[in-house]
Amino acid sequence: MDAQRLKENFALVGGNGIDVAEYFYADLFEKNPRLRSLFSGAMAKQHEKLLTALAHIVESVDDEAALVPYLRDLGRRHDGFGVAAEYYPQVGASLIATLAHFSGPAWNEDLERDWTAAYGVVAQVMQEAAAEPVA
Ligand code: HEM
Repeated sequence: MDAQRLKENFALVGGNGIDVAEYFYADLFEKNPRLRSLFSGAMAKQHEKLLTALAHIVESVDDEAALVPYLRDLGRRHDGFGVAAEYYPQVGASLIATLAHFSGPAWNEDLERDWTAAYGVVAQVMQEAAAEPVA
């Protein structure tokens, strides 16, 4: 996985601001209508939180010591939101679709592979923490 390539791509995509989060949730709920009810009605705050979290993850993608504790906390909170393990691939697919959409002609197989690998690690760390009994 090429961390620098991910960061550059996220900087390009992130330039589209809140549209990125809107596209992501529209794609997610269109493909998986059942997931809509997990989220509270007002999505504006959620849009900002998702973008902030993604930016933080991408920034520390090559800094495991900082990233892992952050993801474990996030994963435990998601357990409380009613997020089951099987939802992670659905969210991953909409995330990749969103990145591809906003990357336009810059999107390629290398980016798809890197993002898929990065999301896989993120999802795994979040799910492992969510599955552990609370100490
Ligand atoms: C890369 C993976 C993910 C990231 C970065 C992420 C990020 C976030 C953030 C930052 C929040 C705000 C609350 C908090 O910080 O605790 C949140 C809430 C939430 N997320 Fe995620 N999330 C991810 C994966 C998922 C998945 C796989 C689902 C499954 C559907 C999901 C569903 C939710 C729900 C239901 C909430 C609560 C919304 C509400 O309060 O209405 N997230 N997420």
